Amino acid sequence: MCGIVAYIGAGQAQPILIEGLKRLEYRGYDSAGLAVLDDAGLRLARSVGRVANLEEKLEKLGGFRGTIGVAHTRWATHGGVSETNAHPHRDDRAGICLVHNGIIENYASLRKYLEERGHRFTSETDTEVLAMLIGELYDGDLEAAVQAALREVTGAYAIVAMCEREPDVLVAARKGSPLMLGIGNGEYVLASDPSAIVAHTTQAIALDDYNVARVSRDGFRTSTVDNIDVTPRVMQLELDLEQIELGDFPHYMLKEIFEQPAALRNTMRGRLDTKEGKVVLGGLNSLAKELVRARKIILTAQGTALHAAMIGEYLLEDLAKIPCECEYASEFRYRNPIIEEGTVVVAVSQSGETADTLAALHEARDRGALALGVVNVVGSTIARDTDAGVYLRVGPEIGVASTKAFVGQVAVLTMISMFMARRRFMSPEASARMIAEMEQVPDKIERVLSLNDEIRRVTERYVERNNWLFLGRGYNYPTALEGALKLKEISYIHAEGMPAAEMKHGPIALIDDGMPVVFIANKGNQYDKVINNIEEVRSRGGHVIAIATEGDEQIREVAQEVIHVPEVADSLSPMVTVVPLQLIAYHAAVLRGHDVDKPRNLAKSVTVE
Ligand code: M6R
Repeated sequence: MCGIVAYIGAGQAQPILIEGLKRLEYRGYDSAGLAVLDDAGLRLARSVGRVANLEEKLEKLGGFRGTIGVAHTRWATHGGVSETNAHPHRDDRAGICLVHNGIIENYASLRKYLEERGHRFTSETDTEVLAMLIGELYDGDLEAAVQAALREVTGAYAIVAMCEREPDVLVAARKGSPLMLGIGNGEYVLASDPSAIVAHTTQAIALDDYNVARVSRDGFRTSTVDNIDVTPRVMQLELDLEQIELGDFPHYMLKEIFEQPAALRNTMRGRLDTKEGKVVLGGLNSLAKELVRARKIILTAQGTALHAAMIGEYLLEDLAKIPCECEYASEFRYRNPIIEEGTVVVAVSQSGETADTLAALHEARDRGALALGVVNVVGSTIARDTDAGVYLRVGPEIGVASTKAFVGQVAVLTMISMFMARRRFMSPEASARMIAEMEQVPDKIERVLSLNDEIRRVTERYVERNNWLFLGRGYNYPTALEGALKLKEISYIHAEGMPAAEMKHGPIALIDDGMPVVFIANKGNQYDKVINNIEEVRSRGGHVIAIATEGDEQIREVAQEVIHVPEVADSLSPMVTVVPLQLIAYHAAVLRGHDVDKPRNLAKSVTVE
């Protein structure tokens, strides 16, 4: 959600913080702020809107000079979007300033307590309450005050605090929201994710829950909130600056859509053994026996990751013949789920930090399920809190609308299904055939990408329409859901996705003259049924945009628009059929003049419930 960056070292903090904020802006972007400590004390600037607005403000103020500072880009939780609610927040009595990502759940009672002790609040935020609490408990030692304050709070947080009276110290802590400490040469960068760190160093530690880091120019110490020493595990960040640059693309979303063939090749590299007809997943080897004996699999996720998980449900039942269910993590976690012996829970997440997915995973694991992660971000919380897992390896995804992660998630779930299927019922020949088909998927995606201009022209013809339907069957029912989600989240057009047959049970009433209805109508198991559904839409005046298989010219008789995709096995088809839907959403957003990479009200990683 929000993005945190903090710096201490020999360099000037302001430019480093601004550059870090720009890299983190995809995490939240309704307001931003920055504070630097100089000889005269705390200098603070905040502004509503993008980091560019903050930069302008700093320029007008003549800039801040100082070699220690904290900065924040916000996605509002408590209190509206305003300059006073933007971070950093401060406690002027103690000269403390704080940036925070997460939610302090007991902030109301803490605020009352602090008001009784004479504190006056200027914002509506839970963060200001935490800043004042740290100030209230401050007795000359910022680390001790932060630890004491965190012992009093419930909720989730990643924080960095600094204090005028200790100008050589930053204190950071985390519970439930990610925070990393980059260890440079005589300098340290704290940030919500590696993208704000890699320009300075590739050595970092990921703080664990309830850990506190006291960082000065001479070194750092990690402890718990109860002040017990923690031995840090230093890791190597595997992220190139180039991977997070836009290059020649106008938007990250478009870049990431076009990266899909290469990303998928990377996801599959070394994992498909065509000769032996086997899928090799190093991360699952130690648990292969338990997985083969699994009696039930629960897939859980949110948003786009949930749509990938739904495809995983079809794959696992179809190929590995294991009963599966797929659940919104936000529902699963609170519904007292029954976890029987032999249950495996699979958490699917690009970021590995989604609060609901993480909580659902913990709930299932605590009830005895074996926990697997299908995650993109290496070292993320879900990756660390699972018994085993498989990384997507699609590279960093910056665009808020998830695209290449979806394709990577589906690919990994396909490989997990084949890993299990081959050990259960699948013959080596059938497995080898499927592997060979899977290896062709990146090339097939490339062919779809070559239709980009055609897809833009189709989108242009319908972009003024405010209601769209996306329909599919079987493996492509979740793809239809994904197409609708993509369109609504970046173009703000109302769109619904559903199984094609469900339309007759109510939604058909929506269809009026010219309403765009996107059908995933590739030559799969239920092609004839889909054609029947297309006829039903057409006879009510709807305009059909069909995603059809190359060579299927007959479909032009029933569809106004046809986008042809290469022929692909039904079970692998979502990785191909989703691509035109991503491009339709992208072009609709651009044509409507929206900020594709930073859609309103959204944030990349949802680390609050
Ligand atoms: O990081 P995650 O994959 O766990 O994120 C889950 C959803 O928040 C995410 O997929 C969201 O729906 C995207 N904005 C969709 O494009």
